[in-house]
Amino acid sequence: MSAKKVITSGMRPTGSLHLGNLIGALENWVKLQDEYQCFYFIVDWHSLTTPGSQNSVGYQYTTNLADNIYQMALDWLSAGLDPNKSTIFIQSHVPEVAELFLLLGMITPLGWLERNPTYREMLEDYKIEYPTYGLLGYPTLQAADILIYKGEYVPVGKDQESHVNLARDIAGRFNNIYGKNVFPLPEALLTQMPKVPSLDNPNRKMSKSSGNYIAIAHSPEETVERVKSMFTDPAKIRKNDKGHPDGCVVFSFHTIYNKEKIDLIRFECQEGKRGCVDCKMELANVMNKALFEIRERRKELANRPQYIKEVLFEGAQKARSVAQKTLAEVKEVMKLNY
Ligand code: TRP
Repeated sequence: MSAKKVITSGMRPTGSLHLGNLIGALENWVKLQDEYQCFYFIVDWHSLTTPGSQNSVGYQYTTNLADNIYQMALDWLSAGLDPNKSTIFIQSHVPEVAELFLLLGMITPLGWLERNPTYREMLEDYKIEYPTYGLLGYPTLQAADILIYKGEYVPVGKDQESHVNLARDIAGRFNNIYGKNVFPLPEALLTQMPKVPSLDNPNRKMSKSSGNYIAIAHSPEETVERVKSMFTDPAKIRKNDKGHPDGCVVFSFHTIYNKEKIDLIRFECQEGKRGCVDCKMELANVMNKALFEIRERRKELANRPQYIKEVLFEGAQKARSVAQKTLAEVKEVMKLNY
């Protein structure tokens, strides 16, 4: 047994990832690999609960799921998740998770799930008239994901904090009921990451569904095109007009990719000494430089689909052996080990 603390985190398979995913999550996951024992998984089951993957009558679009999983795994490895350091796999390849989910479902109070803010938002935002059992149970499944590997820290965005807290409550309740601390009480690891805005709106997060994003997988040319489309200060029309960098998407990206020059850029923009066209070209160049290596690696890995499969397969084997131990312990304290 290693003395390293255990980290667990998952991502829904949305296909190829954008810079929000990279900067907001992946880069952090990569850093955590050395200090922690990390379990990183692609949550294909969770993706079946979300309205985004359904049509208007609730039919689940699973057609693209396999490719979405593959594209995301490619991005994960390109970004530097390392199968020699971390356990990287697909959620459903560890069927023990489903069994723990079922058992945790027996002790998760309905009220906790009904009060879950993400559930309530989901019903409203997507106008869901007939919510499913799976959607309501989303946090219980997430708890199973975390607890089966005895996760202690869970690196997630603020939007997932309530789910991690629920996992913590479920773990505590289980330990209490069965009189043994089988599960550590997981904690969200909220690391301050720069906000990555949508290309068209400095106040919205970059998201795939809006289309206003830059992907890891995009070519340098595509990146230039997308940077050109970024929202800038509407009051700055001519090159020499004085600009307002706060509220300009290009400037937000400079704060991420061009940190050393940020004071100069702000000054030049405010003084009317920097035109938006040049400012965008400079940004596209620094971004393409920063993304060069990860994109090269992606191209290289894309030629080795068999390797990606192997990584995920071997990851699942490792994860299963841990999961089986936990499940055996769970059944023992529940007196289900007959
Ligand atoms: N619900 C998380 C999200 O949408 C994904 C997820 C599933 C997860 N299981 C997890 C995250 C376990 C952390 C730990 O982002």
